[in-house]
Amino acid sequence: MAAIEIGKDIVWVGALDWDRRLFDELIPLPDGTTYNAYIVRGRDKTALIDAVDPSKSGELLANLQEAGVRRIDYLVSQHAEQDHSGAIGDILDLFPEAKVVTNEKCKAMLIDLLRLPEERFQVVGDGGTLDLGGRTLEFLLMPWVHWPETMVTWLREERVLFSCDFLGAHLAQCRPLLCDEHRTLEAAKRYFAEIMLPFRLQIRKHLERLAKMDIAMIAPSHGVVYPAPALILDAYRDWAGEATKNTALIPFVSMHGSTREMVEHLSGALIRQGVCVVPCNLVQTDIGELAKELVDASTVILATPTVLGGPHPAVAYAAVLANALRPKTKFATVIGSYGWGGRVVESLTASLGNLKVELLEPVLAKGLPVEKDFQALDRLAAAVADKHRSLGVLP
Ligand code: FEO
Repeated sequence: MAAIEIGKDIVWVGALDWDRRLFDELIPLPDGTTYNAYIVRGRDKTALIDAVDPSKSGELLANLQEAGVRRIDYLVSQHAEQDHSGAIGDILDLFPEAKVVTNEKCKAMLIDLLRLPEERFQVVGDGGTLDLGGRTLEFLLMPWVHWPETMVTWLREERVLFSCDFLGAHLAQCRPLLCDEHRTLEAAKRYFAEIMLPFRLQIRKHLERLAKMDIAMIAPSHGVVYPAPALILDAYRDWAGEATKNTALIPFVSMHGSTREMVEHLSGALIRQGVCVVPCNLVQTDIGELAKELVDASTVILATPTVLGGPHPAVAYAAVLANALRPKTKFATVIGSYGWGGRVVESLTASLGNLKVELLEPVLAKGLPVEKDFQALDRLAAAVADKHRSLGVLP
């Protein structure tokens, strides 16, 4: 790859992972990802902010060489997860003078996860600083941007915020600086949904803290660098806030067409009522896309056939995922088809215990839906529209 200067004596030395398609063996990566790492040079000292995934250690070392880095005094570890810390051992081997600068909690996790030697650490607290010589790094603890130990780094003189996972995106592109706002925000929203959605209250507190700072540039550890921070900060305020949109999300599976017919009828009825519909065929939709749609949908309607007396496993998984992500969804229900019996409504609603939702009347059809089922779906669409009006998201 290449070392790229993003500011005076601030050099991107991270790694691109164009073709990685799965993170944590769980999260799909349609756009690959990046592990951003940055060199910040002061008059006297040099700091490396974050390392990279262990699989990309060679790229980091090559970029450090290209950037002419002969000495690293401080390796700032903002987050212990291995995609940012996995190459720390290689850096410590190559730069014996380097200290790992991090907070107490992150230090303990790095020792647990990577077995790094305790004597190589220098611990900082919230508001702690490092003087590089004419440049100051200040560390701000920002836990629960999905792990409890994460911190961000503020380069005071240049007003650059190195934000680690926070404000990042799984997105590989050949230049570190933002170039495609729409693509970036889609990837950032997906990333927010996948790991930060359950922690939105914490995220809001972090955003309030950042609002008091005059930030010139945001440099996350995934995705692109934001030279105009309002773009991503405004988006985060929206995603982390309590307001939902006039959207009904319908995660569905249909085995023989009956449930699909119900989804299609309900979608049409909702659209006629003025509600935006997002059907997600779970056989084709990846969970990141589903998570992204959960960020601001007012209503979630799980649509499933009955399999072995319960919901289709893909729909059960969608319910478990929604429950884990704890979106701000206000209303939920279940529709679907059955052959001779089953407990899909009880099973799925039991899986949504973390959600503060009002359950709307479910609609179940025996076999292919008939007129009375379509009428029930029409009533459900009207009820959803009424609820959205009560939220003020539908005029
Ligand atoms: Fe990008 Fe939580 O690691």
